[in-house]
Amino acid sequence: MIYFLAGVAAIAGFLFGYDEGVIAVAEPLLAKDFPMSPGVRGFMTAAVPLGALIAAIFAGPIIDRFGRRRVLMFAAALFTAGAIVAGLITAIWMLVAARLVLGVAIGLAAVGAPLYISETAPIKSRGAMVSTYQLAITIGILISYLTGLVITGNGMWRHMFGLGAVPGLLFLFGLAFLPESPRWLILKGHADQARASLRRLRDARWDVDAELQEMVLNAKAEAGRGVGYRALLEPNIRPAVLVAVGLFFLQQLSGINAVIYYAPEIFNHAGFASGETRILATVGIGTVNFATTILAMFLIDRLGRRPLLVLGFAGAAATMLIIALAVTNPTMVPSWLVIAMLMLYIASFAIAIGPLPHVMMSEIFPLRVRGPGMSTASISNWGFNFVVVFAFPVMLAGPGLAFTFSVFAVICLGGIAFTLLRVPETTGHSLEAIEKHLCSGKPLASLRREAVVR
Ligand code: BGC
Repeated sequence: MIYFLAGVAAIAGFLFGYDEGVIAVAEPLLAKDFPMSPGVRGFMTAAVPLGALIAAIFAGPIIDRFGRRRVLMFAAALFTAGAIVAGLITAIWMLVAARLVLGVAIGLAAVGAPLYISETAPIKSRGAMVSTYQLAITIGILISYLTGLVITGNGMWRHMFGLGAVPGLLFLFGLAFLPESPRWLILKGHADQARASLRRLRDARWDVDAELQEMVLNAKAEAGRGVGYRALLEPNIRPAVLVAVGLFFLQQLSGINAVIYYAPEIFNHAGFASGETRILATVGIGTVNFATTILAMFLIDRLGRRPLLVLGFAGAAATMLIIALAVTNPTMVPSWLVIAMLMLYIASFAIAIGPLPHVMMSEIFPLRVRGPGMSTASISNWGFNFVVVFAFPVMLAGPGLAFTFSVFAVICLGGIAFTLLRVPETTGHSLEAIEKHLCSGKPLASLRREAVVR
């Protein structure tokens, strides 16, 4: 059941990636039917991150109030409706509205889905299970790039947009068969339903009562303490906020979406003249992103979060710097080296910088502030996503590619320091053990694999 749950919840990630990537390939066809001014085009493209940013603000409190599963079902309905409307539009303002609705669905699901998986998964595979969400994002991006290769021809953009309704419906249908999160049920005082939910989620030999008891004790210890956004300012909670917001800041400022959204343009700057080569190289990027995320899922619960993050940031910094040097001296450096370095950059991202912020934001907040805490992390994700995607073309036209990539490299070096100084090792700990450590007043980053004996 837990695998089915992780699979269904991850459809939200697929839709996140699909709706991010599809505009890159649909836009040239769309522009033939609906010519747009640059301003309208920019707003239409940015409607998804904008909707997601707005939804992220409200997602946590809504999810805490109505339950993880119910809010995800609402998001699934929005995904389906948004895709159908986007496929049927007769004017551009309708597409802007549809993309705003899709953005809201992504924003709700980007908080709800990792939270739902994290609260229902067994400790030993929690990291891998939440990473299925990131894997699904990469599949969504890859499939959207591939539709650009396969679905060509006038008016076909309608099919590209409309196709999103299929996973939307599957998501809704799958959720109908799943139980609510036992931890949320305990938070709301429904211990019997929590037990029934956990029974469905675990196999027959599992000691459900012991696991439930840990959840109940934790909820009792936390009862009567602050909830909502204001509680995030409490001295014990602040370090968790810093880690979650900081990891998403670093994820976005590592430059990932400059590559994901503008890969063909970057290849153009690196001297690839043929459009076809550029699209193929872009599909290559999508493939490396996807394949390395699978490797990450295998390593996260084995190697641990901190070593992987250090490895990822080091790899991303080195490759960004090499590309910056290569494009400054184009005559001395073969162009295949730029492609190879971009692939290595994507692999460094996908091994840690991609999945771990999503995994850790679902682990480090105490239950009573998990909703608002994850909302805040998601605001950081979408806010900085918007900044990078919006600023990258301006930076390319101004200081240029080498300078911009050097900035990304320096930020990745900062990521190594941040990981070593601030990020806890959550591998092998129950959510309750992490919470206990946080509330004990010890520095969050002092949590180590061996430190808590269960
Ligand atoms: C990020 C997205 C990014 C994607 C690439 C995700 O973790 O949040 O902004 O596009 O990874 O795989």
